[in-house]
Amino acid sequence: MDLTILEKIDSTNKYLKEKKYKKNWEIVMAKEQTAGKGRRGKVWNSNKGGAWFSFCFAEDKYLSKTEYGKIPLIAGLAVIKGLEEIEKLNYKIKWPNDVYVGKRKISGILLEKSGDFFIVGIGINVNNVDFGEFKDIGISLNKITDKIYNIEKLVMLVASKFKKEYYRFLRGEWEEILLEIKEKNYLKNRVVEVMVNSEVIKGEVIGINNSAELCIKKNNEIYEIKSGEIRIVYTNN
Ligand code: BTN
Repeated sequence: MDLTILEKIDSTNKYLKEKKYKKNWEIVMAKEQTAGKGRRGKVWNSNKGGAWFSFCFAEDKYLSKTEYGKIPLIAGLAVIKGLEEIEKLNYKIKWPNDVYVGKRKISGILLEKSGDFFIVGIGINVNNVDFGEFKDIGISLNKITDKIYNIEKLVMLVASKFKKEYYRFLRGEWEEILLEIKEKNYLKNRVVEVMVNSEVIKGEVIGINNSAELCIKKNNEIYEIKSGEIRIVYTNN
């Protein structure tokens, strides 16, 4: 996987999306982003010190949209596997694609599509300590351990872990991958709220199903959520 390192750019996702001739599995990282993008149009605070990177891979025409819905969770698992190699902490996946340590967010993932390519954008708080408007929710490795980490190494690790998991997925190992994801489900047994077709569903998270949907139990009825912003109401465990 080729790595391009940029000093400063608006957004590595935008850079790759707009790049005319994309190479399969090329990675672009920036030391700083001036217009880092989060999901749902949010701004992603990208000061120096974090791992801000994107990589792309060509779509497999044989895979359905439902199959591609599993990619965010696979990316979350890859982030955890990469992080575990440089610092052993209790990382969890907050469905569909955030990584948490304790009650705080250490990483966010933004999956986009450009032509025949998928762009996986990953932000990991590493040596940075200022999270701007996310100060009450963000955390970085440095804040936890006081150590300084090699960002390039982490970027390469996470991207290659993703590639490995993605090929496992293409080989038909989704069930095994899902088991690993389930073990790291941050939302399990928590009471959450999520908007579905302008209706708020409030209930207990009972798990993630085979289609990568979040299963919420409300008054003995199970709701299977395809996408949405999850708000935690309280924790049962
Ligand atoms: C989120 O949690 O809302 C997703 C955040 C994704 C941030 C990364 S940083 C590298 C890449 N470039 C961007 O502009 N966004 C992603």
